[in-house]
Amino acid sequence: MKRSVSSILKLKAKAIVIRQKQLFLGGIPTSEQLRILVACEESQTVTMALRSQGHEAYSCDILPTTGKHPEWHIQDDVLNQLDKGWDMMIAFPPCTYLTVSGNAWMHDPERQKERRKALAIIRKLMKAPIDKIAIENPIGVISTAIRKPDQIIQPYFFGDNAKKSTCLWLKNLPLLEPTDMLDEDQLEYKHWYDKKKKRWRRQPLWYYKARDLSDEERRRVRSKTFQGIADAMADQWTAKQQVNNRKTA
Ligand SMILES: C[S@@+](CC[C@H](N)C(=O)[O-])C[C@H]1O[C@@H](n2cnc3c(N)ncnc32)[C@H](O)[C@@H]1O
Repeated sequence: MKRSVSSILKLKAKAIVIRQKQLFLGGIPTSEQLRILVACEESQTVTMALRSQGHEAYSCDILPTTGKHPEWHIQDDVLNQLDKGWDMMIAFPPCTYLTVSGNAWMHDPERQKERRKALAIIRKLMKAPIDKIAIENPIGVISTAIRKPDQIIQPYFFGDNAKKSTCLWLKNLPLLEPTDMLDEDQLEYKHWYDKKKKRWRRQPLWYYKARDLSDEERRRVRSKTFQGIADAMADQWTAKQQVNNRKTA
């Protein structure tokens, strides 16, 4: 059956209106497949959350991945990968020399040098030639040395029984919205008496549980991204990004 030009134009206009309505309501995800670099991630937690949304995501870390998909892992210095045509980067750079608690050691010139190096990496990540960027780090000196974070989130905002203040510096990405807010009073802690220091101590249970692991394993377990946050990043920064106008610069 032949259609007239005007009926084809009418059908096209109708399709555009439907599409706009769907996007406005957040009813369908964008079909656009994004190339996403998940920088400084060996666990592939965020990479897998993005892959499950259909995106071409790669983890990148100087370490081999402990995740299940080495074919989606780039084992390299992330600074070598910034100009490879990514649509988005979500980065989890090391915080060892950037924490406020580390200030106690900052009289050591070696540590000062390491902190300067760590800040230089953060600046390079922030200035990477990538349209959408998120950088994650605990509360620390980035806020004073570079700029304040756009947002501070907690794993328990996203359904995980854990408290860990997590800052986000965002470029062209919306603030993350809590998906499953747990009651702060119900978060679990381990209390124990420290015989050496002769006082009671308390640590979030998730953090305490890793205490008997080897140094390397403990570091790895404690720095792994929580699943609820990974899922929220994948959901809200890709599929829903077109319907959320709250952008950060
Ligand atoms: C704070 S941990 C983040 C771990 C991450 N949340 C995960 O779930 O795998 C920082 C990671 O950055 C990696 N790293 C350090 N320097 C790097 C570099 N120049 N390029 C790529 N990765 C680096 C470390 O090996 C470590 O795995």
